[in-house]
Amino acid sequence: MRTHYCGELEKTHIEKTVTIYGWVDRRRDHGGVIFLDLRDRTGIVQIVSDPQRTPESYELANDLRNEYVVEIIGKVTQRPEESLNTRIPTGEIEIYAEKITLLNAVRKQLPFQVSTADTENVREDLRLKYRYLDLRRERMAKNLQLRHQVIKAVRRYLEDVENFIEVETPILTRSTPEGARDYILPSRVNEGEWFALPQSPQLFKQILMVSGCDRYYQVARCFRDEDLRADRQPEFTQLDMEMSFMSAEEIIELNEKLVCHIFKTVKNIDLPHPFPRLTYAEAMERYGCDKPDTRYGLELVDVADILKDSGFKVFTDAIKNGGTVKILPIPNGNDAISNVRIKPGGDIFKEASEAGARGLAYIRVRENGEIDTIGAIKDNLSEEQKQEILRRTNAKAGHLLLFAAADTATVNKTLDRLRQFVAKEFKLIDSEKINLLWVVDFPMFEWNADEKRLEALHHPFTAPHPDDINDLKTARAQAYDLVLNGFEVGGGSRRIYQREIQEQVFAAIGLTPEEAQSKFGFLLEAFEYGTPPHGGIAFGIDRLVMLLAGEESIRDVIAFPKTQQARCLLTDAPSGVDTKQLKELHVASTYKPKV
Ligand code: AMO
Repeated sequence: MRTHYCGELEKTHIEKTVTIYGWVDRRRDHGGVIFLDLRDRTGIVQIVSDPQRTPESYELANDLRNEYVVEIIGKVTQRPEESLNTRIPTGEIEIYAEKITLLNAVRKQLPFQVSTADTENVREDLRLKYRYLDLRRERMAKNLQLRHQVIKAVRRYLEDVENFIEVETPILTRSTPEGARDYILPSRVNEGEWFALPQSPQLFKQILMVSGCDRYYQVARCFRDEDLRADRQPEFTQLDMEMSFMSAEEIIELNEKLVCHIFKTVKNIDLPHPFPRLTYAEAMERYGCDKPDTRYGLELVDVADILKDSGFKVFTDAIKNGGTVKILPIPNGNDAISNVRIKPGGDIFKEASEAGARGLAYIRVRENGEIDTIGAIKDNLSEEQKQEILRRTNAKAGHLLLFAAADTATVNKTLDRLRQFVAKEFKLIDSEKINLLWVVDFPMFEWNADEKRLEALHHPFTAPHPDDINDLKTARAQAYDLVLNGFEVGGGSRRIYQREIQEQVFAAIGLTPEEAQSKFGFLLEAFEYGTPPHGGIAFGIDRLVMLLAGEESIRDVIAFPKTQQARCLLTDAPSGVDTKQLKELHVASTYKPKV
């Protein structure tokens, strides 16, 4: 019977005989005495096998190799002064192994070293294929435990303090529009019909409010077939919540308390609150994006009013066509960022053009205060305009001002990207800082230029601001996103709960009454049976844990994630299926492998 876990042994256990289990992290032979680091999920402890003191265990210890699974029975002993290890919690003691039992050996060559003593540079595809080995590693084991701690803190708080109940909602369902493609599944028994996997439990949680559930939460799996990035997975986990009879203000307040509770419980950090708020318009104006990282400055400056009458056609055309001209002012950027980097072929240019910009104009302020520009800016801006720009951007000696001129969305996208790029290069980001903020007053809709129609910025169940109800197309939404260090970790809104308004919103996004009825008839009908005012939010648990763990990819906080190509390398899914199976499902593949 196990008496202890490896990582919990310490001085108070000295002289005790313990039974522990684990994996051999490392084996060292020091002049005939064998040292083993034994690892389990709590940590590492040192085992000693000495031909004189513990002859019985010595033979076997000699044969052990990394990752063998063993049982050790032995006495906890004080380590001699010279071998104390202050870097690990068990570093003051060691265990003299009286008995070692080999429970299972490793029969193949390890694809990579698991030992915590080894460096991290293992290829990710290997880590994902042999995920069981990868998860044994200290960093990953810690991440999984942290994730568990976060979810546990959430459950305790929501259930015990705030009276939420957890309700499970279906995975086999209809499409729930959150803006991504659906994963769909053919139905065998209902020929020709399909289920969709939920992009979120949005509609079910609203129906639960109609059902009188009052306060719902769920640790919910969501599925979205979208392009993957470091902070996106096709299958991810939300902390999903919905509440009845609460104003947006009350919902925000409750969620701030929840987030503070999480940080306090898992990190012992007291977050200052209330969290700051930015309107969507302000966030776009100052940072060019709706999830700004405010740990550093580099705020954007709009100069369209100064330049609208300049002689530079790129600027004036952009402004005339409804776009704008903005500047990213970079203190000390003049020396660090050469012209070569800003022109085609340069890395800064590449960043800008990937965001849609055609080119970057600039002004440099030399150390002696002189202004240095080339080309069109030089010839077409008056001295007065240049001076006004310097004043507006607060530019000093050493500043580099980068201009973007285009439609407003492209300008913002370009400068947001450059802002983040420059912050990294100039090491302006204090990784210890935790900046949480709410972005509020989103517009209800944005224009989808490809499909030439309005699109709900969050989802079409978001309630319009009561002051804007008369012109839905330009209305603000009662929506709020929570941003942590430049990542959107949560988003929610108050919901529409009246049939007529819901119908108007469906119409605004281009659904015909028939389409609205066929897709969401059940919701519209439910609204007619006494629906309480309600609202909610969903947090991306993977993203939140990633940030708490200091990781750069959510794959490192998910036990079995998919690759960027949406594959599971451990099980090699997705895979082909039997023709028979497809036949039963009334499905035929049109895919033709390339030859
Ligand atoms: P939203 O679509 O904003 O809102 O999702 C909520 C949060 O989920 C996280 N998230 C993701 N995490 C990993 N991979 C993804 N592909 C992914 N997509 C989203 C983000 C995001 O903030 N039903 C609404 C919530 C509501 O209105 O209550 C919804 O799903 O952190």
